[in-house]
Amino acid sequence: MHVATITLDPAFRVAPVDRRLFGTFVEHMGRCVYTGIYEPEHDTADDLGFRRDVADLVRTLGPTVVRYPGGNFVSSYRWEDGVGPRAERPQRLDLAWRTVESNEVGVDEFVGWSRRAGMEPIMAVNLGTRGVQEAADLLEYCNHPGGTRLSDLRRVNGSKEPHDIRMWCLGNELDGPWQVGHKTAQEYGRLAAETARAMRMVDPRVELVACGSSNSAMPTFAAWEREVLEHCYDLVDHVSLHTYYDPAPVEKTTHLASSRDLDRMITTIAATADHVGARLRSRRRLTLAVDEWNVWYQSRFAGQDRLSYDRSHELIEDVYDVYDAVVVGSLLITLLRHADRVAIGCQAQLVNVIAPILTRPGGGAWAQTIFHPFAQAAAHARGEVLRVEPQVATYEDGLYGDVPLVEAVATLDDESGTLTIMCVNRSLAETVRLEAGVRAFPDASVLEATALWDDDPSAHNTEMRPDRVAPRPMDVTVEDGIAHAHLPPVSWAVIRLQTTRPTPTPHVSASLEG
Ligand code: AHR
Repeated sequence: MHVATITLDPAFRVAPVDRRLFGTFVEHMGRCVYTGIYEPEHDTADDLGFRRDVADLVRTLGPTVVRYPGGNFVSSYRWEDGVGPRAERPQRLDLAWRTVESNEVGVDEFVGWSRRAGMEPIMAVNLGTRGVQEAADLLEYCNHPGGTRLSDLRRVNGSKEPHDIRMWCLGNELDGPWQVGHKTAQEYGRLAAETARAMRMVDPRVELVACGSSNSAMPTFAAWEREVLEHCYDLVDHVSLHTYYDPAPVEKTTHLASSRDLDRMITTIAATADHVGARLRSRRRLTLAVDEWNVWYQSRFAGQDRLSYDRSHELIEDVYDVYDAVVVGSLLITLLRHADRVAIGCQAQLVNVIAPILTRPGGGAWAQTIFHPFAQAAAHARGEVLRVEPQVATYEDGLYGDVPLVEAVATLDDESGTLTIMCVNRSLAETVRLEAGVRAFPDASVLEATALWDDDPSAHNTEMRPDRVAPRPMDVTVEDGIAHAHLPPVSWAVIRLQTTRPTPTPHVSASLEG
């Protein structure tokens, strides 16, 4: 049996856990909004038309922030269409997903819903077909207290208090030729800079995200960031990074190693941003917003160009299995391991469209396999991230090279004394024995340990069997300063230990004498 050893020490701190790492994404796309979060005719609908059964699942999932309203959708969106009396809102063509947008849900409804569901909204502005003025207008509508045409319009529309939205994305994936209003890096960099400047004039408290690459295979990957940031480095706070992993065309072992790509993307884009910062002699250090990430069976999707306006709304409702849940777990581990550089993560999307939650119009709502690693990480990754380096066998993968069987991270919550280990076993067939050295935590005892796995890793959840795949209790013992566990093949595991005050590793101080 393979053994994975890790050593946990309170001195190995990476950074505090930014709770915004556990974000999500709602786009006007497919059934994410309509018959996803919003369905006025549904039995569980609240008085504003939002499904209570979905909101309850969202609260259990526990995302902290939610990006809205797109995605590709935002690049031809007119936000004004979605405010004011519903009866007067126009039907519009949504060019991105070839559908008719009813505008029943707009910024006011969405902000209210997201806060009731326990999330802070992150708003994206349209820099595809629109520009500086419309972005500044939307910000004024949302955040200005009152006394101007747009802020008073918000008040008339029912939101007396400002929405007070802090995080704003300057467009979406404008490096992609599929994007409405696609731009060169220079065109976008200039537009992002001028939009940022104007938005900060409206509200200097905003945090701004510049569009980075749509994925690591883009021909302009990293060159795009370099050129864009040369224009707007000192005006933005974060640069975005999007990444989706398609299980269909690759071997399972390659799919299970997907987080190696995310790891490389993060280090590459951080280095690119630092390079620009150095050239500009800037004292600022940008952080990354991984504001779209997930598993997506993209090769099963015929593509936007094959869509037509007369079809049903259903779009890319991928069904996820245990392999996918383990990949999602390893992507969460990777985000946490880079907590010193990644400030925001948004799993894309929240409901129905490549999502942890599925719904049936007029029917139930249930959690997919990938719901569980997210919910557990969001609930338990608190305090500070501890660096963990598993010593374990590797396998050779055609795409990713040397891949360790086990990936892991830990967090330490100084307040409660809870030490949480999150790990995945990528082996298709073998259980791996985990030996976690916890000598630095005297009296560590097991609070709870679970593993998500299945004899059939292609198992998934359905409306009839929503708990077919879910975390199950796992045996963990602590002896002589080592926590022992057995990680089943293709599994995601969470081990929570109660510690008393950790003993800091003694400092070795050297003194020069004589
Ligand atoms: O999340 C689905 C789509 O993926 C988004 O609209 C776009 O930003 C990305 O390409």
